[in-house]
Amino acid sequence: MIIVTGGAGFIGSNFVLDWLAQSDEPVVNLDRLTYAGNLDNLRSIDGDERHRFVKGDICDSALVAELLAIYRPRAIVHFAAESHVDRSIHGPEEFIRTNINGTFSLLEAARAYWSGLQEEARQGFRFLHVSTDEVYGTLGADDPPFTEATPYAPNSPYSASKAASDHLVRSYHHTYGLPTLTTNCSNNYGPYHFPEKLIPLVISNARAGKPLPIYGDGRQVRDWLYVRDHCAAVREVLAHGRVGETYNVGGWNEKTNLEVVTRLCDILDELDPKSSGSYREQITFVADRPGHDRRYAIDARKIERELGWKPAESFESGIRKTVEWYLSHQEWVRNVQSGDYLKWIDKNYAGRNTVSEVPR
Ligand code: NAD
Ligand code: TYD
Repeated sequence: MIIVTGGAGFIGSNFVLDWLAQSDEPVVNLDRLTYAGNLDNLRSIDGDERHRFVKGDICDSALVAELLAIYRPRAIVHFAAESHVDRSIHGPEEFIRTNINGTFSLLEAARAYWSGLQEEARQGFRFLHVSTDEVYGTLGADDPPFTEATPYAPNSPYSASKAASDHLVRSYHHTYGLPTLTTNCSNNYGPYHFPEKLIPLVISNARAGKPLPIYGDGRQVRDWLYVRDHCAAVREVLAHGRVGETYNVGGWNEKTNLEVVTRLCDILDELDPKSSGSYREQITFVADRPGHDRRYAIDARKIERELGWKPAESFESGIRKTVEWYLSHQEWVRNVQSGDYLKWIDKNYAGRNTVSEVPR
């Protein structure tokens, strides 16, 4: 069996669902259920004996050691993290705790467990660390995309904490020989995406008749990947990745935030039209994110060359599926938008003065 951390979050829950749809290998899912963790994401596998959920913290070394001793997994797939850049700006401490200290605790527990395995199991064991392209910092408009050799230059507390965790993982391979793998992926979108991130926030605000907040001039570029393509990449790296290597994962879909938001408005105009006018009229420019990275882009040729992975979805097919999913999962959205969610929205947007024109 495998242990997945953070399997109640956005990407982790998609990973667990896809894993069990393709394999009978059981999954132990360790998740602390922070604001971002949601057991509703896993409702379709309620009662499935191949999935065992454990509510717990990756920083709890005794718990992790116990899970490893009981379940004797062949791999750990590590998604658990604090993941929202804006939250890291308002409160970085939790990012240091979970992303750095938590990854360290997990590595220590994995090392102790792995050292005690028989030779064959030691050879086969994998620690797969799921990371982000944000560790590479920001690109200029004409720079080539990030490769696995691009130097790290993280700019937010979030990306700095993920960079630190990547370095720890690297060092555990180099120093102790722990069979690690790291993936650095671009921005994901799709089902179960927590609605404080750009794409689900815009879908939800649009339908509620609220402003669609665009930070700064909206010309920041992100490379978008449909979440199930990311999950397929993680499965491929786990199965065939070369130990100690890192793999960049991306969709070759660079878009400005403004392009993403206007595309969402147009799809909503088609699938769920307003009584009059377009959702585009709700677009509002607000004060920029401090230290906002201008452009991310991923060169995903290594994973394609070595492992044959390629995204199945184009941006157009993936974004349409995503809008359709949110339109047919209103109850999921309502349940997520609890008191805590509203407090965050107040905190993040209250101080941002609305600007009606695109700032020059
Ligand atoms: P998420 O915030 O939706 O989910 C994180 C999950 O981790 C939640 O279920 C949460 O409860 C759990 N968690 C947090 N702290 C924990 C702790 N101390 N112990 C145990 N569980 C804990 O995040 P996501 O978007 O699904 O991202 C998953 C991973 O992928 C992260 O490591 C993130 O850095 C990485 N990543 C995300 C993206 C993206 O676009 N979302 C892109 C590239 C990489
Ligand atoms: P986000 O979904 O927070 O992901 P990340 O910061 O990890 O890339 O944001 C995606 C982009 O959208 C990023 O450039 C910030 C921008 N953004 C807005 O313009 N308005 C918003 O309300 C939010 C949440 C994000």
